[in-house]
Parts: sequence; C-alpha cells; structure tokens
Amino acid sequence: FRLTTVEEFEAATDRLLETGAKVGADSWQMRVKNQTPHCKFGEEGICCRICSMGPCRITKKAPRGICGCDAHGIAGRNFLRFTAGGAATHSDHGREICHTLHTVAPDGNYKVKDAEKLIRIAKEWGVETEGRDIYELAHEMSELALMEYGKPFGVQRWLKRAPEHTQKLWHDAEIEPRAIDREVSTAMHMTHMGNSSKPEALVRQALRSGMSDGWGGSMCGTEFSDVMFGTPKPVDTEANLGVMKEDQVNIIVHGHDPSLSEMICEYADDPEMVALAKTMGANGINVAGVCCTSNEVAMRRGVPMAGNFLQQENVVLTGACEAIVVDVQCIFPALGPLSKCFHTKFITTSPIAQMPDSDFIRFNAETAGENAKKIVRTAVENFANRKQELVHIPQLKQKATVGYSVEAIVKTLDGVTNSQVDVLGTTKPLLECITSGVLRGAVAMVGCNNPRVRPDYAHIELMKKLIKNDIIVILSGCSAQAAARAGLMDKRAKDLCGAGLKRVCELTDIPPVLHMGSCVDISRMMVLASELSKDSGLPISKLPVVGCAPEWMSEKAVSIGNYVVATGIDTFLGVDPQVSGSSEVTYWLTEGVRKWVEAAYTVEKDIEKLGDAMIARIEEKRAALGI
Ligand code: SF4
Ligand code: FE2
Repeated sequence: FRLTTVEEFEAATDRLLETGAKVGADSWQMRVKNQTPHCKFGEEGICCRICSMGPCRITKKAPRGICGCDAHGIAGRNFLRFTAGGAATHSDHGREICHTLHTVAPDGNYKVKDAEKLIRIAKEWGVETEGRDIYELAHEMSELALMEYGKPFGVQRWLKRAPEHTQKLWHDAEIEPRAIDREVSTAMHMTHMGNSSKPEALVRQALRSGMSDGWGGSMCGTEFSDVMFGTPKPVDTEANLGVMKEDQVNIIVHGHDPSLSEMICEYADDPEMVALAKTMGANGINVAGVCCTSNEVAMRRGVPMAGNFLQQENVVLTGACEAIVVDVQCIFPALGPLSKCFHTKFITTSPIAQMPDSDFIRFNAETAGENAKKIVRTAVENFANRKQELVHIPQLKQKATVGYSVEAIVKTLDGVTNSQVDVLGTTKPLLECITSGVLRGAVAMVGCNNPRVRPDYAHIELMKKLIKNDIIVILSGCSAQAAARAGLMDKRAKDLCGAGLKRVCELTDIPPVLHMGSCVDISRMMVLASELSKDSGLPISKLPVVGCAPEWMSEKAVSIGNYVVATGIDTFLGVDPQVSGSSEVTYWLTEGVRKWVEAAYTVEKDIEKLGDAMIARIEEKRAALGI
C-alpha cells in the first residue's frame, strides 16, 4: 500500500487538459492565469460598492469613501456580507431538507429511515412522542424546524446541545442566533449604506450570523437528512477519477442536497434503467460524486467519490461522463461550455442554480421519483453519443472507509477501552486516549480547494503531518475527498501514524482520518466537541482540539469559520479572509473575539508553519491542562 501523490493527481489532470486542448475547452487553470494578478483592493477587502455614490477604494491619498467610511468599516462590512452569503446558502439547503421532510410518507418518494433519531430530536425539542405515528411526528418536526427560520421571538433550539459554559458565553456576547433568516437580514441591514461601520459590531454580527448557520440551518440540514436517508455508519467505498467506468454509463452527481442524489442512486439501480443501459451497449450504470453531494451519498450508500471541487471539470474531460447532474452550490458555470465540447449532458435541476448551456430538468420533492427517472434515462440514452476517441479515464483510485457520524464515532471508539461499561456510548474512551497522551489531540480539517493554494497539497500534507504526530483528524467537504483520493481513508494508512494513533486505529479498526460528511455536517463536529466538553467537564476551548481550513474559498467557508470560532475552537486558515486592508478587523478576528468566545482565527499561508502552529496550539492546551 502507498498513498497517491499530489504529483500523480497533477499528471492525471495534465493528461486530461490535453484532451481539453484538442476540443478547444477552457479550464480553470487557464482562467486563473487570465485573472492574475487579482485586484489588490478586493484582496485586502477595501473596495466598497454598497451604494452608487461609489464604488470607493481606499488608498493613502483617499483614506475614506464618499460617505466617510474608512478601511475598517469597509473591510468589516465586506466580511459580514461575505458571512451572510454563506449562512444564507447553508441554511437554505437546510430549509429544503425540512421541506422534503414535510413530504415523507410510508409510500412516498421520501420515507423516515432513522425513526430513533427523529424521536431523539423530538424529545430534545420537548415534543410529545409517546404513541405517535412516526410520519405525523416527522411532519410536526418539519414545521417546527421551518419556524426556526422566521420565528419572531427566542433563539435557536439547537443551542441547548452546547455545554452550559458555551451557552453562557454566547448569551453574554449577544451572539445567540435568533431566527435564522433574521441573522442574515440583520447582516444585510447593518451593512447597508449609512449603518454600522464599527469593526467590533460588524465582527460580532458576523459571528452571530455564522452561528445561525452551524447551530441553525446546517444542523437542520444534517439532522433531518439523517432522519430521511439514514445516519451514516462506516462503509467502504473508493475515490478518485478511476472510479468512473469505461464500459458503463457514468452519471456524476454534483452539488449539495441529498434529496436529489439519493433519488438518482435509487433509479440508477432500477432494473428497467439497467436494462435500457444494456440495450445502449453499456454494461450498467455507474453513479459517482463530486463535492458535497458525493460526501452525502458516499457516507450513506458507499457511492464512489470521483473528486472534489477543482476536479469537477476533470470528470467531463474524461470524455466518459454521460451526465453531470447538479443541484446547488459550488458548481462551475464553466461546466456549460465545457460539456458542449463533449457529449456530456450538463443537467441543472434547481431554480436556485440555473446556468446557460445546461439542460434544466426541474426537481421537486413531490415529483422526485419521476424527475430522477427522467434524468437517469437522459444519461443512459446519451451513452450512444460518446466519442470513443476522446475517452480517457485516469487509472487512479484508492479505497476509503467513510461514514463517521458522531453516533458512529462514539460506537466505534468503544472498542478502544477495556474499562467499565458506564463509559460505553459516550466520548469518554476518546477522552481517555487524549488524557493519557496516546492521542495528542484532534484537528477538524474542512473546506474547499482554492487555486491560490496548490490544490489538495495543503490538505494532504497537513493530514500526514498531524497523524504522524498522533493527532486524529476529522474531515468534511472537499478536504475529506482529498484525503480519500490520496488513500488516507484506507485503513492501511495507519502505518503513517505515530505509535499512539496507530494503536487506536488497530484497536478500533478505523482509518487515521475520519470522514464526517459534507460541509453542512460540520454541525456534527460541533455536537462532537460539545459531547467531549460535557463528558470531560472542560470548556470546549480548553480541549486540545483545533479547526483548520487550509484551502477554503467560499462564503460558506467563512460562515463555518465564524461558528467554529464562536463555539470555542481556534481556527487556522491557509487562505487570507480578505480583510488585511484593515488592522482593526484583523485584530478583531485574530484576537479580539477571544474575549467573547475563548477562541480566534490564525491565518498562515505557509503550509509547513500552519501545521506547526496547530501542533503548538494543541500542545499548549495540553500543558495548560497538565496532561
Ligand atoms: Fe463609497 Fe460609502 Fe457608498 Fe461604500 S457606502 S460606495 S464607501 S460612499
Ligand atoms: Fe460543500
């Protein structure tokens, strides 16, 4: 066994780009060149176009915009708007899931798969569960969850899952999120021309807005997806472009909302569709994923992962993609023109993400079965149009074990302890490993790829360094896919660990890095941190745990960063959050917020130093605890 190297990833990409050049395709690699150097004002966050007296840019000669706003106000407002964009996006995904939950029926497209979890959540929310029909309960829970988006009074229900200490910090700092939509609206209101320009106020609302995502909309997305599609448990799969099959119809699902991808998977297994594929000359139908949709179906069904964010063009460049079916978020508009260079059908499905040069097949929860069948049929029929001379699938793939929800982690780590039964089913066995020093700590590594960083390199190199130092790594999003494609989710990767982590991997039969799901599933990590805190009696901020997004790029990532920091977890970024034009906003993010939430950001673009800084922070936290 050996890992696939980033050099091998890159060689495969280069070979695919040769095909691209042959057919006159554009690529992100070319577009990066065309866009470099980037606008310096934008990079530093000091360009404002919030009103039409502007746009205004801050320079030495012009230190204030026309309204008199300075660099700090402009950078702060930009940061808050960026956060609000991310919080709205994750939360709207969560809302869609709640609406889908409203359609569940015993004979419907969507059903309740994890009734136990639904009942557990209902009890948390004080809803009567005794003797109730599970579908009736699901509908009530869906309505209550949807109310969380617009309720006029009170704060988010999920906050109660946090340790008391954290809840008190949130209350005192006034960052408890009220209605989810309200925190986005407040952010837009505050940043409208002529409102807040004080960095402290803008950063505070950025935390609160982020909180409405992680402890609001995203948590709804994760929890109710589990109710409908099953709570993930360890499952074997494969990752990288080599999962695409030359002799089969390849359907790539890309985006975020499992309501679509779950249905596509169902109908790709439909005997009628498989028979149709055979008549088209294919040996079957192969579904593989890109981005978070991939994480969702990998975690619950073992569907293989073709690639992460910056691989989305590569799947089309193989010439063997019959259809790339997308729902929402992280979808390159480039897929439209690119798919036109091949036989690939680029199928958009959501009114939220409509793009030129795509076939729009609208997908609704009510008609999900019909819609999915139409999509699968379109893909299968397209097999006949494949241009054989353009087909090249890079033979790179690795085995991966994925599906580590909090429930699965707790259950799996029971295997590490030989102590009393009363610790079973809690995080105490994991805490024992940490206190004894067998594990030094944990890092939650998340987020996207970004061409500003050599793609996947930061993720993979940091993971290798951390596991070698006996730090267990939990992953989500494109970070998780980088790991899987490299082979770090193969259980045999335990040999790359330090002695302590290797022992834990052997005792519990886990890979050294654990796939916790999609980006909305970072809410799972918040629940895990809360459980660790409650089981240890320590505030979250004292646990030797940090967060890291070395290659992040989206507004969603900033929203995530804000709620992770607000939950008391120091967060390390490898890409600048575009506030460097303001010393004050920089201060608030990297230091100031610590007095509210006991954690803050660190930005470090040198990957080696970023890794060292995380290890140092973990060791500092251990030393403070005397362990
Ligand atoms: Fe310029 Fe102020 Fe308008 Fe922004 S809000 S564009 S700084 S005048
Ligand atoms: Fe994602």
